[in-house]
Amino acid sequence: MPRILITSALPYINGIKHLGTLAGSMLPADVYARFQRSRGNETLYICATDEHGTPTELAAAEAGVAPSDFCAEMHKVQYDLGRKFGLSWDHFGRSSSPQNHRLTQRFAQTLWEAGFIEERVTQQVYSLADKRFLPDRYVIGTCPHCGYTAARGDQCENCTRVLDPADLIAPRSAISGSTEIEIRDSKHLFLRQSLFAPKLREWIEGKKGEWPLLVTSIALKWLDEGLQDRGITRDLAWGVPVNAMDWGANPEGKLPDLAGLADKVFYVWFDAPIEYIAATWEWADAVAAEAGLEPQDVNWERWWRLPEASDVTYVEFMGKDNVPFHTVGFPCTLIGVNERRDGEGRWSVVNNSPWKLVDQLKGFNWLDYYGGRFSTSQGRGVFMDTALELLPPDYWRWWITANVPESQDSSFVWEQFQAQINADLADVLGNFVNRILKFTETRFDGAVPADGLDGPLEQKLAKDVAAKLAELTEHMEAREFRKSTTALRQLWVLGNQYLTEAAPWTALKTDPARAAVAVRTGLNLVALFAKVSEPFIPFTAEIIAQAVGESFPGRWPQPDAALDILPPGRPVKAPEVLFRKIEDDQVAEWIARFGGAEPVPQPA
Ligand code: MF3
Ligand code: ZN
Repeated sequence: MPRILITSALPYINGIKHLGTLAGSMLPADVYARFQRSRGNETLYICATDEHGTPTELAAAEAGVAPSDFCAEMHKVQYDLGRKFGLSWDHFGRSSSPQNHRLTQRFAQTLWEAGFIEERVTQQVYSLADKRFLPDRYVIGTCPHCGYTAARGDQCENCTRVLDPADLIAPRSAISGSTEIEIRDSKHLFLRQSLFAPKLREWIEGKKGEWPLLVTSIALKWLDEGLQDRGITRDLAWGVPVNAMDWGANPEGKLPDLAGLADKVFYVWFDAPIEYIAATWEWADAVAAEAGLEPQDVNWERWWRLPEASDVTYVEFMGKDNVPFHTVGFPCTLIGVNERRDGEGRWSVVNNSPWKLVDQLKGFNWLDYYGGRFSTSQGRGVFMDTALELLPPDYWRWWITANVPESQDSSFVWEQFQAQINADLADVLGNFVNRILKFTETRFDGAVPADGLDGPLEQKLAKDVAAKLAELTEHMEAREFRKSTTALRQLWVLGNQYLTEAAPWTALKTDPARAAVAVRTGLNLVALFAKVSEPFIPFTAEIIAQAVGESFPGRWPQPDAALDILPPGRPVKAPEVLFRKIEDDQVAEWIARFGGAEPVPQPA
């Protein structure tokens, strides 16, 4: 039995996520995880909050709390919202966990000993008043290009030019406002990514045709531009500390300058992907604790380290901005901890239980809001918390999955959202389920009828259903979500068409056995729809499954037995209306509240 390991890009801790974040990683990953579980494959879906870095320190300072408290609080908020959206994480961890501290430090140390990290002295802004180095965003001053007086050290918000803190006129500290700042030397660790370029190129070339074109072309573009060595440490307080470990010597016999590295932490993009692994470790610890076992009793490394993990297919989900970090940055870390470079520059594989690289990488374009970007900082678009105040999660799940930006950017537009929800969910699926179940209640004593034999109509239906189900299954295996929702919708439509043709309400008057066949077939379609809709709209699928007495979540059906699910005599019961139509006045109200009628200019 194959095992499937799934990760979705770790959402930043600061702030509630908008629908774009859901569309670009977490929701497709969840749909895929649910599908794999229902196929009977051992599946592990891991996610976590990405907690370190300057934005966290700034957001915590703004909220007047310590970064650790801020993160603990926001993790809980994001966890609760994810659950309300039905995200079926096996574990939703935290990149600030002790497990991630351990692994990040261990990986850095191994990379040093293997000759892939070197020390370099860089120039950083130091604030005498604050007695600390100021990362780019902590330095504010006048933009040399446009004269804007509150430009940040990394970028001018007004003219959008990228800046170096040293460019700013009259620079001051964002923390204290003090102008007593100077440029000082600061020692940092650099991961020698440039050494990995040939290996990475060969690996990515081998994925051409197998991974989405979007992904391989972004990765190759980065390699074509020349891989730069990357600073993996920062002068910050909140993060994984650098010198809190026993460093060994590198191949030249040198130890890092620990005094020079005191008060530094690893760069957030170094520790965040490692959290995929560390969160798996957190998951194992949680499972062990729950079962009253010792931590070492749950083996998490079998998901990540070869040869034990050779039956694991590791699938990553992310937006396109994340692709370079997952095709270049993180793979450098993993290849680097598996190998070693001697004093003469020769490489050898040293790890006899090497860490696994990603097998399938699903990258997405942007989901826009009326042609402009969703924006956390400007509060533009619909966010996870407000979305759930307006409508139940399945409405959002269905629309997002059906419109997920796979081959190009896609746009959220209220009217189109309304039209699609009303057509697909209310008119096609909801109507079908209610129609057949109500009829069974009133005319067949609320039980699956036993009479009659399948005729040509049922044989044709079985054939059409089997073909459509096979198509849906194939698209899901290939992680083609738009095509999957199209196939699923067509499956629902087959049910409606069948019921219209078989018309049990008419047959009942002349041929009760024929009516019984039609009702039995219709009820089996309901049971089938519950199973195949579960990855997409799990909350509704559960209600539908209960209506026909099926356990939930069920198994993904086999095409040849797709209409042979319910035993005759099984009691069934019509549910409440499954989907309420979205009304025009609701749409008008939401457009007024969230904006949208006029396209918003794209931030550069
Ligand atoms: N927090 C990042 C973002 O939202 C994604 C990090 S993915 C990780 O863009 F793997 F590096 F954690
Ligand atoms: Zn400017």
